Amino acid sequence: MAKGVKGTRDFYPEEMRLRNWLFDNFTYASLLHGFEEYDAPVLENEDLYTRKQGEDIVKQLYNFKDKGDRKVSLRPEMTPSLARMVMSRAGVLPMPIKWFSIPQCWRYERMQKGRGREHFQWNVDIWGTSEISADAELFSVITTFLEGVGLTEEDVVIRVSSRKVLEEVLGSLGIEGDAFAQTCIIVDKMDKLSPEVINEQLTELGHSSEVISKIQSTLGLKHLNSLKKVLKPDSEALKELTILFEAIESYGISDWVEFDGSIVRGLAYYTGSVFEVNDRKGKFRAICGGGRYDKLLSTLGGKDLPATGFGFGDMVIMELLKDKNLLPQLLSGVEDVVIALDPELKNVAVKVASVLRDSDRLVDLVLENKKMKWAFKHAERVGANRIILVAPEEWKRQKIKVKDLQSGEEFETTLEEI
Ligand code: HAM
Repeated sequence: MAKGVKGTRDFYPEEMRLRNWLFDNFTYASLLHGFEEYDAPVLENEDLYTRKQGEDIVKQLYNFKDKGDRKVSLRPEMTPSLARMVMSRAGVLPMPIKWFSIPQCWRYERMQKGRGREHFQWNVDIWGTSEISADAELFSVITTFLEGVGLTEEDVVIRVSSRKVLEEVLGSLGIEGDAFAQTCIIVDKMDKLSPEVINEQLTELGHSSEVISKIQSTLGLKHLNSLKKVLKPDSEALKELTILFEAIESYGISDWVEFDGSIVRGLAYYTGSVFEVNDRKGKFRAICGGGRYDKLLSTLGGKDLPATGFGFGDMVIMELLKDKNLLPQLLSGVEDVVIALDPELKNVAVKVASVLRDSDRLVDLVLENKKMKWAFKHAERVGANRIILVAPEEWKRQKIKVKDLQSGEEFETTLEEI
């Protein structure tokens, strides 16, 4: 029997209904905050992704040569495509840009709970402003969505830090640029790899044990106040984080957001705030991740523009919602089931269905010769609220029978009046 590609999913109608429901909630939270939707092709030139820092995402590319011998890749994330789109209209697009998208992304990952080889990732990004308040606006989009699907600050937490924290600490020890980006990629794996492996990798990068212990103590910071002891009084990181947390308070979402020095993120391009969303109990992998990436365009040959945003996958959130019993029972949407109880009357049933559809009713017309009992069962299964019977006795008098399945009420009507 033919099988799908490992790590990919089929969406049967009941799953598709839930996916649409999820996407509608993503879309609603975005539109509510003034974001506009965009899209890009799933296939890109491979060099859009081949950054040098040894990120997992680059090792996991679904890449191949096309028939014209061009190196192409399925997108593992949306950010580079978005950057390409912004760059090619730089100077023309009015700033700031507030855009969102729900692309399917492909990564050749090790299969595990909440991680597949394809996933849909809600992306929300703001370009063209360095204002830290833009990051708080993103948090508001996230919490609006989370509340919309029934989650609270007791279920979920947004943990935030800034790349600048570690950058300032390591900068004072002379670690900058590429070495710094590579350090971030390694320390991001702290929850996945053993401390020994992390130490080994940091040592390989040339870090002394003094540097490594400095990194560890910085990552262990859990309060903004404790940053004051580690960073210089004029610290940019501290200034920005203070502004960010003030804005978060104005949005009234302080209970959702915490400072956490261990958040650094595994993508090289982040330059400022970095954040991840997790379930409070720590049962699942990250639900969402993002941050500020002000220098991405220059790595793609363009002129830099400040940018911040996040990616929010469809897999972990669905698991969490299932775990919390928050997935809605969604029906097919069919309102009327129309059936001819005699093969001779099939064309009358077609007319009935057409009249109803013309008046915007969602109609499932029974196409085969079926019995009344079947039609009732079917109507119940699809969640229809009415069943319209075209039966020989009634049709002799040009009448059609309508049964309201909620009230049990039954009445006769005509084709004109239905
Ligand atoms: P990321 O952390 O690689 O960031 O992915 C963001 C989210 O996508 C994750 O938190 C997770 O929910 C979901 N995700 C990632 N990989 C998988 C997978 N294999 N299976 C299921 N879900 C997955 C980025 O991709 C950044 N480009 C996000 C961003 C946008 N930063 C700024 N703007």
